[in-house]
Amino acid sequence: SKRPAGVPEAEPRDLRRIGVVGAGLMAGQFALLFATQLRVPVTITDLDAARVEKGLAYIHGELDKRVAKGRLAAEDAEALKGLVTGTTDKADFADADLVIEAVFEELEVKQKVFAEVEAVVSPDCLLATNTSSLSVTAMADSLQHPERLVGFHFFNPVAVMPLVEIVATRHTNDSAVASAFALAKHLRKTAVLVQDAAAFVVNRILLRLMGEIQNAYDDGTDPAVADGALRPMGLPMTPFTLLAMVGLPVAQHVMESLHAAFGDRFRVSENLQRLIENNIGTLWEEQEDGTR
Ligand code: CAA
Repeated sequence: SKRPAGVPEAEPRDLRRIGVVGAGLMAGQFALLFATQLRVPVTITDLDAARVEKGLAYIHGELDKRVAKGRLAAEDAEALKGLVTGTTDKADFADADLVIEAVFEELEVKQKVFAEVEAVVSPDCLLATNTSSLSVTAMADSLQHPERLVGFHFFNPVAVMPLVEIVATRHTNDSAVASAFALAKHLRKTAVLVQDAAAFVVNRILLRLMGEIQNAYDDGTDPAVADGALRPMGLPMTPFTLLAMVGLPVAQHVMESLHAAFGDRFRVSENLQRLIENNIGTLWEEQEDGTR
């Protein structure tokens, strides 16, 4: 079959065991996807046992929902639960063929995670980051084996969003890129190879829209009015609803990266900052009938 643009001819690696660093919103979703689509053991890890338990509880809950909806046999759900384990010790990744991280969106944090991972995995273990906006090259630069790192960027909700952005740096070798594309195929995602530029392609475009609606909010527009005005425009989700789903702090981090890279084309919202500081997760709640 014809290879998509940018996919090298190299032989993809077998990914028989996967480690996931982070047990939060994104990590839990793609750990579940790995187990479901690849049927291989997946281990999730986080800073403490409570976070790991929360991640596992999310995965179990999603599987239970599928059983309740009649989409998954109960014994299948149990088998999948058995494939996903939790640990607080990255040493448990020693046999992993792929380790992917979705930890806090800060370069130093991700570099530290990869240093810890490299200390335990084999030199040819594929490494991946699910960063939305940070420089994959900067992560690669701090690695002992930078040739095996790719960006592998999922979108929320992972189970339904069809796209994955694959990021190769100047260090990444053909085998790693080919393996990333093969992985996406096994996950039944459409993969595109993108440049290692701030927020890659999708978020760079999406955040123009999100940023503009935040600017309107900063200028005093009622968020429900601004959001509601966009309802008939054919968007699957209006911008403020999407912001709440992505998480305001994540959106803020992406916006900061874009601002750093492209200046005033991306302005960081003062009101959004205030909401985050006050731990307010959403700007307005839509009622079921579409009114407030
Ligand atoms: N987890 C799992 N499945 C979900 C889900 C979730 N969180 N949300 C919805 N679904 C599933 C539903 O179960 C449903 O499946 P079935 O058709 O098999 O029953 C299907 O998705 C459609 O759901 P609904 O009919 O309830 O709702 P919808 O038609 O509005 O679709 C949506 C939901 C697909 C999420 C759609 O609203 C959408 O595409 N929204 C935009 C999402 C988006 O833009 N994401 C990108 C965010 S940016 C990002 O993630 C990148 C970043 O780095 C910050």
